Amino acid sequence: MNSKESIYKFIICGTDTDIGKTLISSFFVRGLNSYYWKPIQSGIETQTDSKTVEKLARVSRDKIIKEAYVFTKPLSPHWAAEIDKKIINFDILRLPKVKGSLVVETAGGLMVPITRNFLQIDQIKQWNLPVILVCKSSLGTLNHTLLSIEALKRRNIEILGLVVNGEKHLDNPKTLVEFSGIPLIAEFPYIRKIDSNNFDILWKELEIQDKLLSLFKLKK
Ligand SMILES: Nc1ncnc2c1ncn2[C@@H]1O[C@H](COP(=O)(O)OP(=O)(O)O)[C@@H](O)[C@H]1O
Ligand SMILES: [Mg+2]
Repeated sequence: MNSKESIYKFIICGTDTDIGKTLISSFFVRGLNSYYWKPIQSGIETQTDSKTVEKLARVSRDKIIKEAYVFTKPLSPHWAAEIDKKIINFDILRLPKVKGSLVVETAGGLMVPITRNFLQIDQIKQWNLPVILVCKSSLGTLNHTLLSIEALKRRNIEILGLVVNGEKHLDNPKTLVEFSGIPLIAEFPYIRKIDSNNFDILWKELEIQDKLLSLFKLKK
């Protein structure tokens, strides 16, 4: 396995907030020894996503790129910015140039506003990187995930695949793939003990390295 040799850049987005984007980002950052960037962090009362990833992925600090914006309140970015009296400058939201793999974690779900007239998904389109969509495994995921995929497809945003996160579900992953035609990268299990050791075990078990390699090969 030569994870250090291949360079992958992609965006981790989710069907909702609290769906597992940070956890799955940590998993990829660890597995690929990649850079991580959370462009917009809303809410500083609990640990920031950057801190969580640094801790869980156990990568060196320089791999965690500083956020473009950190807002005090755990709200949609457009409102959190207004409360902090900050105006988003889109130049600052340009992708960082790094020599190595890069995982970008979005804020909330796809249709979350960044400003009063610009959505998260509009920014994803501008970044022009493929996305991995994290969704939950349980009831409710079919609607949220298929809607998210439809929105991405409509804008010609490339979807590398799905990560279905949580307790194993016997039918949802299959149904999502059948209706969307989007590949399943992994069914990521619910884990009691979230740490880098368990990430390393799952990285091998779920054969992520090989899957990423073939998904990126399929890209035009
Ligand atoms: N597969 C999982 N197993 C155990 N806990 C999980 C799993 N996925 C997410 N969680 C927990 O759920 C919460 C929300 O996940 P997080 O990655 O922060 O979501 P998001 O970044 O989408 O808001 C966190 O406390 C996280 O540790
Ligand atoms: Mg997060």
